[in-house]
Amino acid sequence: MGLSKHYGTGSAEVVALDDVDFEVISGEFTAIMGPSGSGKSTLMHLMAALDSPTSGSVFIGDTDVASLKDGPLTELRRDRIGFIFQAFNLVPTLSAQENIVLPLAIAGKKVDQEWFDRIVSVLGLGNRLTHKPSELSGGQQQRVACARALMNRPDIVFGDEPTGNLDSTAAAEVLSFLRRSVDEFGQTVVMVTHDALSASYADRQVFLSDGHIIEELRNATQDELLQTMARIYPRHDRLAEAEQSVNGKEPDGSASFVEWKTDSLVGVPSSPHSPSDDVVETDGDGTRGSHPEHAIFRDGSGAPEETELEDNDEFEQTTPRRAILN
Ligand SMILES: Nc1ncnc2c1ncn2[C@@H]1O[C@H](COP(=O)(O)OP(=O)(O)OP(=O)(O)O)[C@@H](O)[C@H]1O
Ligand SMILES: [Mg+2]
Repeated sequence: MGLSKHYGTGSAEVVALDDVDFEVISGEFTAIMGPSGSGKSTLMHLMAALDSPTSGSVFIGDTDVASLKDGPLTELRRDRIGFIFQAFNLVPTLSAQENIVLPLAIAGKKVDQEWFDRIVSVLGLGNRLTHKPSELSGGQQQRVACARALMNRPDIVFGDEPTGNLDSTAAAEVLSFLRRSVDEFGQTVVMVTHDALSASYADRQVFLSDGHIIEELRNATQDELLQTMARIYPRHDRLAEAEQSVNGKEPDGSASFVEWKTDSLVGVPSSPHSPSDDVVETDGDGTRGSHPEHAIFRDGSGAPEETELEDNDEFEQTTPRRAILN
């Protein structure tokens, strides 16, 4: 509630999050979207009790995170929150199974075998549990990391671009697993993503811009998400088009830049419903399937705050623009 986060002071002060009210709905899959530097990670870190706000408060259930001392705060992070990182953070010397139960082993807790078996069956990795991470594909490794995050039945699982390092097939495996964890286990999942296709797996899509929530959708398809992104972030789209017409090629990264880009991994099936021997299928209701392209925001520079433009046309309504294909 009323969450703000400022970094630095004086002229160097950055307002990463500006008086944001946000509630994660239990049992839902929420995607937090927005261009680079819009405050997605900041919001997620505050909600996950990894960082404290400059002002405002974070509640996890009835617990005011700010009221907790170090010990209870560590317990809350361990017992009630699960994390999935962009880099899978698996222990290389342990098998998939050992990695999944590692947090419980560290906490000295007993493994609930029935729960483990359910997670593993949804995970679709039953025959790879004895494999080490190096013997698993990227998507398989990230599914192991997801299973690990779910193992202690956390109230919320947070992922900051959990599919950011994966190709589209592997990303689909992981997103399908997260979807099923919500549908079948009632897990609450919050995922930060640049990517319209990834966000289309979620029940709810929340859009950030310059530290504010500026739009929210429910059950949006990839196309609806792309259109919304083009409408609410027109400056990024226009910049991309201008750069394209000047250079006739991708931006060189010298200017700060966020563009729409269609992932053109050749020959890789990008639909969540693409056949693949161990892709875990989603519920097949059609609302999340049939996405023709894998479109992402792409940060060409890694320098988020230079995205300021001379005109503040963030909220300007424009007709949806095409995603740039190259
Ligand atoms: N530790 C920090 N010190 C100073 N400024 C920071 C710090 N962390 C984030 N910022 C700034 O706060 C703003 C929001 O950052 P944040 O990491 O939340 O963006 P993001 O939406 O997650 O971007 P990305 O998509 O690139 O990960 C940016 O302008 C960023 O430069
Ligand atoms: Mg981030």
